[in-house]
Amino acid sequence: MAFRTLDDMDFAGKVALVRVDINVPVENGQVTDTTRIDRIVPTIRHIIEAGGKAVLLAHFGRPKGKVVAEMSLAQVRPALAAALDRPVTFAEDCIGITAKRAVAGMQPGDVLLLENTRFHPGEEKNDPELAASMAALGDIYVNDAFSAAHRAHASTEGIARQLPSCAGRLMAAELLALQAALGDPARPVAAVVGGAKVSTKLDLLSNLIGRVDHLIIGGGMANTFLAAKGLGVGTSLAEHDMTDTARAIIEQAEAEGCTIHLPPDIVVARAFAAHTPHEVLPADQCPEDAMILDAGPLAVAEINALLATCRTLIWNGPLGAFEIAPFDAATNACAQEAARLTALGELTSVAGGGDTVAALNRAGAAAGFSYISTAGGAFLEWMEGKTLPGVAALEA
Ligand code: 3PG
Repeated sequence: MAFRTLDDMDFAGKVALVRVDINVPVENGQVTDTTRIDRIVPTIRHIIEAGGKAVLLAHFGRPKGKVVAEMSLAQVRPALAAALDRPVTFAEDCIGITAKRAVAGMQPGDVLLLENTRFHPGEEKNDPELAASMAALGDIYVNDAFSAAHRAHASTEGIARQLPSCAGRLMAAELLALQAALGDPARPVAAVVGGAKVSTKLDLLSNLIGRVDHLIIGGGMANTFLAAKGLGVGTSLAEHDMTDTARAIIEQAEAEGCTIHLPPDIVVARAFAAHTPHEVLPADQCPEDAMILDAGPLAVAEINALLATCRTLIWNGPLGAFEIAPFDAATNACAQEAARLTALGELTSVAGGGDTVAALNRAGAAAGFSYISTAGGAFLEWMEGKTLPGVAALEA
């Protein structure tokens, strides 16, 4: 990967337009998880400590080109100021006279947050004019929003082509961690892929099969694969119309030397509810009126024994219905083992995408992984082997 970093730029007296992803959960006007905010602090600090002015470009929600008051970034400003431990000013537009005036009033070391880029219809269309209006505000473009890099938008892609550009610290860390996990990994490599549906992860599975040695399938997806092997899955969440596809994936894996691991035992219940009565059964004995909610203890033992033989692990999606105890047991036990092996220096472990971080946090294992991505959709697209436009523009 060839991209410039903060260390290649001189920020003294310059206005740096920093694309960040502060699309964070907010409830009643309060940010409830500051992870994405905390992770951009090093980039902003670097710029202002180097005598630059940091102007933040970001989206929030999906307002679809209209001004939607509930999606104003003003509500994120206090959490940003708290994380930076310094004042952050706010401008009610990301272009035009309002933004220009706000930038003109800045001193070196100041931080300014601009209003939601998606309030402009040109953002999602990657309109060159909008990109030029944003670019006109600054001297250098810094992209620190890996988690928005799968979008070819004016503030993530177009603008990078109009100003001297570089990756921020978080973007660089994400790219290096992902390169270590799938680009040129220490082998053997295992991937855990969980989640509800095979249909949403077809590209991802196909790409992984050619790159990893072991594919551990969990969650609702595992049920579809068990059904594809002719096993009854009762009332489980499963895509019965995808069983041919699952069989094709199994065949493709065999041809490419990738071993697919499905649970040899399952935890079943009659209701999807916490602490509902449940039992552990061999995978081929799911009763017709029961649903599979987790992988069983034998599956956990097999996965953990496998992880001990691997050097690299990439994790996306839970192994069971992790939101409701005790069906979080397999996810917890395997995540904790991955963290333990990582601490011993035996495993490089990278996780990201959707529910994954919540599941690993719940397992108390997130801090033990080598790297946890801040990205949801971008992580998945990267696992699918796709080029992320925001990254490609930096490399160009
Ligand atoms: C995310 O939350 O994954 C990113 O901010 C991208 O958001 P989007 O899916 O609305 O483009």
